[in-house]
Amino acid sequence: MDSSSLDAAASVLAKSKHLVALTGAGISAESGVPTFRGRGGLWEKYKVEELATPQAFRRDPVKVWSWYKWRMEIISKARPNFAHVALAKLEEMGLLKALITQNVDGLHRRAGSKNVIELHGCIWRLRCTSCDYAEYIEEPVREVPPRCPRCRSLLRPGVVWFGEALPERELKRAYQEVSRADAMLVVGTSGVVMPAGMLPLLAKERGAVVVEVNVEESAITPYADYFLRGRATEVMKALFEGICERLGKSP
Ligand code: OAD
Repeated sequence: MDSSSLDAAASVLAKSKHLVALTGAGISAESGVPTFRGRGGLWEKYKVEELATPQAFRRDPVKVWSWYKWRMEIISKARPNFAHVALAKLEEMGLLKALITQNVDGLHRRAGSKNVIELHGCIWRLRCTSCDYAEYIEEPVREVPPRCPRCRSLLRPGVVWFGEALPERELKRAYQEVSRADAMLVVGTSGVVMPAGMLPLLAKERGAVVVEVNVEESAITPYADYFLRGRATEVMKALFEGICERLGKSP
């Protein structure tokens, strides 16, 4: 981690008026939740078209649900890490105004973040494929595939699959936050899945400063004002302390 970029980024973020964060799978990696791309990523072992599309679900709901049940089991054992906690604390301090995440694991809320925009849905939300029944669950599903308690149709995970539109309300909120942002903190995303991946570019085009935290370069790095290389927990700890120091608050 380059300490001069870290100091400069901490100063810019501490002075910002409307800081918005965008997170991806990399922020939950150190909590033990696998990422999608890169070495050991889910899309190296599993095929998107067999597990994360509406067609796959129609073809083989048991297979798709077994995969989601397995991911629910991993996530239910995971705990928010310091990077999640730092974002929750930045919001509590009044600096971070909104947190846009592509993650479906719910770890941001568990860390205490309030204004969370879940662009790709939430794995803990189940919804019926026929009626308007929906529920939040706290433990992995038992029965696979789970059925609607109202109409007995199949329930599906409340996540966005490839080929599906993003939830309209969340997307609108995300664009609103980005249009107001004067600083954007991007943590642990490859930035290749649209439209989430282009939000930092939109913010930048509107004059926001973009600070990126990642273990490696991403699609966002070429235009990031500050690229802080390192693991999310370590960089966010240093960045959080730097921001607190500049705001005269104890971390
Ligand atoms: P990816 O798996 O594409 O990227 C994870 C990013 O996190 C990479 O850029 C890694 O370098 C970085 N990373 C890994 N470990 C890290 C660590 N400890 N600290 C910091 N960075 C780390 O995940 P996303 O960008 O979130 O969509 O993927 C976007 C979307 O693609 C997901 O929401 C999912 C997936 O297909 C859907 O399911 C719709």
